[in-house]
Amino acid sequence: MKKAIYPGSFDPITTGHVDMIQRASKQFDQVTVLVTESLEKNYLFSAPERMELIQQSVIGFGNVTVATFQGLTINYVKSVGAQVILRGLRAVVDFEYEMTMASMNRKLNPEIETLLLFSSPEAYFISSRAVKEVAKYGGELEGLVPPHVVQPLLKKLNATTAK
Ligand code: PNS
Repeated sequence: MKKAIYPGSFDPITTGHVDMIQRASKQFDQVTVLVTESLEKNYLFSAPERMELIQQSVIGFGNVTVATFQGLTINYVKSVGAQVILRGLRAVVDFEYEMTMASMNRKLNPEIETLLLFSSPEAYFISSRAVKEVAKYGGELEGLVPPHVVQPLLKKLNATTAK
């Protein structure tokens, strides 16, 4: 069984992520979207909240599951018997970050491959960071995040600003 793990912050999930998950689900028997925590990042949504928004985005995909893990992604991949870490590549700026992370993961476990999937042309400019900025300043979110993400995102940003 070919299993891929698609790790990321997903803070929040975007239409670019959904496109990636959908395409990956056709290439692997099972895809797990892994919500990870990095010590260096401040997240807008908690891990359970991010998971919930992903769950709702992948309802139609039969072979996609959602999980969370604290620690090294490579350890999670090994623990579930997966063979592949899947990441998306948008523009050239992503390349160095992805190459460094893939190289570190290869050093930690050479048995696990990182596979990069190019983002679709319609999604190459979409990132969670940019989406949060658009939302914060009242921009149109249609097409940038799945429809069910819009209200939680606006609510969360309002609550954060009010603090
Ligand atoms: O969506 P992101 O923030 O670019 O995803 C980065 C992520 C979560 C995949 C990466 O930070 C990660 O795997 N974090 C868990 C810790 C780890 O395994 N780091 C890799 C060694 S550098």
